[in-house]
This record gives sequence, C-alpha cells and structure tokens, in this order.
Amino acid sequence: MRPEHVKAVARLHYESLTGLLRALGLPATRAFYTGCVKAPQVMAFVAMDGDRLRGFVCGALKARALKLQALAMNPFAVTAAAAYGVLRHPSSLRFLIDVARGEAAKHDPGGPELTYIAVDPAERRSGVGRQLMDAFTSAMRAAGVPAYELSVDHENHSADSFYKRLGFERVGSYREFGIDRRRYRLTLASK
Ligand SMILES: CC(C)(COP(=O)(O)OP(=O)(O)OC[C@H]1O[C@@H](n2cnc3c(N)ncnc32)[C@H](O)[C@@H]1OP(=O)(O)O)[C@@H](O)C(=O)NCCC(=O)NCCS
Repeated sequence: MRPEHVKAVARLHYESLTGLLRALGLPATRAFYTGCVKAPQVMAFVAMDGDRLRGFVCGALKARALKLQALAMNPFAVTAAAAYGVLRHPSSLRFLIDVARGEAAKHDPGGPELTYIAVDPAERRSGVGRQLMDAFTSAMRAAGVPAYELSVDHENHSADSFYKRLGFERVGSYREFGIDRRRYRLTLASK
C-alpha cells in the first residue's frame, strides 16, 4: 500500500467495515491510512486492476503498533479529523472513551494481527480476498511469527465463512464498541 492508494483504501474501508474509524467518518479514516502507509511496522497490501482498487489488507506484528504508528505518523490530521468526526457523529465519542479506558480490544493487543481487510463489493467471491490473505500471511511467515489473529463481528457471516475456509480456528469472543466479536487465529506451518 502506497500514498497514492490511500483515498480509495479509506473509501472502501468506510463503506465495508465497522468499528471506530467507520464511526468517526471518512476524513478520520483517510487520515489514519495516510499515517498507516508511512508506519514502519505496518504490513499493508493492495490488489489493483490498473488504477482501480480491488481490495486491501493491513495489520502489524504488534496489533497496537498499527494504530499507534498510524497516529504518530500523522498526528495533527488524525486528531483533527477525529475531533471533526465526534462533532458530526457524537455517538462515536462513546467508542473513543472505550479506547481511552482500555475497555476495547480485550484480546492481547500486543500480538501479530490482521486488523483490516476489504474487497470491493463488485469483486467479491472471485479470489481477491484469498490473494490478499496469501500476501499478508507470507509477510507474517517471513517475519517469523508462529501465528496471527484477527477479529470478526458476530453478525459477519461472510467473513466467518471466508476465514474458516482459509484455515483459521476460532479462539474466543469478546465485546467491543457494543458489538460481539469473534477472535480467530491462523497457525502458520513451521518449516
Ligand atoms: C471477507 C471478504 C474480504 C472476502 O473476500 P473475497 O474476495 O470475497 O473472498 P475470496 O473470493 O477470495 O474467497 C476465498 C474463499 O472464501 C470463500 N468465501 C468467501 N466469501 C464467502 C461467503 N460469503 N460465504 C461462503 N464462503 C465464502 C470462497 O468461496 C473461497 O473459497 P474457495 O477458494 O475454496 O472457493 C469480502 O467478503 C469483504 O470484503 N467483505 C466486507 C468486509 C469484511 O467483512 N471484512 C472482514 C472484516 S473481519
């Protein structure tokens, strides 16, 4: 993922995913990804068809690093866009309070994680998601991690089927931002 992909990635994120960034709005999501592409520990890939974004995936060796480094790389824009998001969508303030209190993300925030993946709705079920997962998993394997985790909304049956098909096992569940979420793990074959 490079700076020229940020606009399309942020839009696809905003239209496809739930959570804090979605609640804060598109400017905050764009500011987040502007920081994300500069962050040294972030693993982020796009699938392109020429100039058109088909899908993206991002995560980090330390789950918390993704969010902290994206913020550190673009602090003023993220803070300003988040404040604007709270003004426009006051209900998102509750999410920020949860984060500040440490009540979000009850799973281990220090471990390797795939944090966001989305495929353009017109491209789903044609193998783009699998390609993105392969790229991400190869990067994790090259970094030497034995396993990585991710979270899925309880209601997201498509993602549930997708991850099970790709060999993930369910390892727990928790509640974040008022949503029940499932935690999945992919164990990487040792060589
Ligand atoms: C989840 C998502 C990334 C999957 O991407 P995709 O490009 O449609 O997935 P693929 O076509 O590569 O599918 C890979 C495998 O998963 C299976 N699969 C994908 N979606 C499925 C669904 N809705 N139901 C059942 N199986 C599914 C496919 O059949 C395929 O298996 P196969 O290769 O053995 O045939 C995509 O649906 C998406 O962007 N959803 C919205 C955002 C989202 O929910 N992200 C995850 C948040 S945790």
